[in-house]
Amino acid sequence: MDFHVVENRHIHELYSLLILKPAEGTLPELMPGQFVQVSIDNSKTTFLRRPISINYVDRQNNQLWLLVRKAGEGTRALCEKSARDTVNLLLPLGNAFSMPGQGASVLLVGGGVGVAPMLFWGAELKRLGFRPEFLLGARSANDILELDEFTGIGKVYVSTEDGSLGETGLITANTILSRHTDFIYCCGPAPMMKAVAKKAREVGATCEVSLENMMACGLGACLCCVENTVKGNVCVCTEGPVFNINELTWQD
Ligand SMILES: Cc1cc2nc3c(=O)[nH]c(=O)nc-3n(C[C@H](O)[C@H](O)[C@H](O)COP(=O)(O)OP(=O)(O)OC[C@H]3O[C@@H](n4cnc5c(N)ncnc54)[C@H](O)[C@@H]3O)c2cc1C
Ligand code: FES
Repeated sequence: MDFHVVENRHIHELYSLLILKPAEGTLPELMPGQFVQVSIDNSKTTFLRRPISINYVDRQNNQLWLLVRKAGEGTRALCEKSARDTVNLLLPLGNAFSMPGQGASVLLVGGGVGVAPMLFWGAELKRLGFRPEFLLGARSANDILELDEFTGIGKVYVSTEDGSLGETGLITANTILSRHTDFIYCCGPAPMMKAVAKKAREVGATCEVSLENMMACGLGACLCCVENTVKGNVCVCTEGPVFNINELTWQD
């Protein structure tokens, strides 16, 4: 589907929030946890589409948000898009976060650009009557993304490595992770997700993580994103990106 860039908010030297609108018609059904594959046009080096989480869906305005971190050529080109540029997206891809039981306490944990899928999921949980809480982590206060948006949905706990906001230290050391929560959802770098998974086991929480394995096709054809699970090797792009930690063969 072609989308027009409505706005590119350069929220940080490394991050852009792209607000997109379908060139024609309305957004398809999209679920929190799903991702899109973005085509990087006019690039001499980036031939494959790049996977980006759905950050937020604004149905009222028929808009889709993507939060993009400059990691290399493809994401840099996306961060340089201007209003009225067009981007082509393959969507929706992947599975979604599981619904917690009614009345469950839920904590959504995002490290760095891993906060991206948590905004859409938090907003949806709130709409459905839950009271989602968030734990966001980054190097410093300046790197905590979309804080106002998260605060508008629920209580936000923060960890920064330099102590400029919230608790000092790694997100995985935040004291909120030692409290019992029924459901923890997490996205971020693999070592962080493994540490959060361990904490979730300790407090008896059900835990889902959103994996960001390297991807090429996004459609289950190239096997570039395979993850070892208790059911054998599976493609993260079609069977994930969201997995219950009990499905993964991660070592503690
Ligand atoms: C399901 C999923 C959702 C994602 N959601 C987001 C998001 O919301 N926002 C965002 O900014 N990024 C997200 N990513 C990561 C993003 O896809 C990569 O940063 C991007 O593909 C890098 O492309 P590039 O051309 O900029 O960099 P490249 O030049 O291709 O690579 C630059 C660096 O990024 C690493 N890299 C490349 N591809 C990936 C990948 N798929 N995952 C992790 N590291 C990679 C490379 O190893 C290299 O170190 C997501 C990845 C997945 C799989
Ligand atoms: S990215 Fe090709 S199979 Fe998953």
